Amino acid sequence: MKKIAIYPGSFDPITNGHIDIIKRALKLFDEIIVLIAVNPNKTSYFSLEERMLMIQESLVEFKNVKVDSTTGLTVQYAKKAGSKAMIRGIRALTDFEYEFSINIANKFIDNDVESVFFMAKQEYMFISSSNIKLLVANGVDISQLVPKPVLKRLLEFNPDE
Ligand code: COA
Repeated sequence: MKKIAIYPGSFDPITNGHIDIIKRALKLFDEIIVLIAVNPNKTSYFSLEERMLMIQESLVEFKNVKVDSTTGLTVQYAKKAGSKAMIRGIRALTDFEYEFSINIANKFIDNDVESVFFMAKQEYMFISSSNIKLLVANGVDISQLVPKPVLKRLLEFNPDE
């Protein structure tokens, strides 16, 4: 049976930290669905379509990675997709606390879906989608931190850089 995992997040935009987690997860799972969880309370920098396109372009060589979105609960999406695993990355103790509470809620919703946590690599520990946007807006070279399709769009948004 195909082992499918979902990797939910906002991905506004996807960074090399996320890509690293996906590549490592591909060693354990046959297929990964990168799932953009649309949060109506969070204002996004990139539209849903742009975020999906950037993920597709960044992971084009991985035929077993799919991209989708949901406005619902990630655990319910996992169940419908035939997945029993949800991937999350952890960078710091604060991530752990956040993930701990989400995991309790997810377990309450559906006890069958397990969360699988990957520790972020040291070089990606400080990256978040927000600080990437802050760095690029202030002229810092972020080419090591994001995939090329993301870099291109971020620079289009900040033409002076
Ligand atoms: N590398 C780089 N950055 C990372 C990272 C990694 N490995 N892991 C997380 N991040 C960053 C993200 O870029 C993001 O940065 P930002 O806050 O600056 O934008 C931040 O960490 C949070 O990331 P994300 O994983 O996208 O979490 P989120 O807070 O946006 O929540 C869901 C996403 C999917 C967990 C959450 O919205 C959700 O579950 N939504 C659906 C509703 C649901 O099912 N709720 C649970 C039960 S109530």
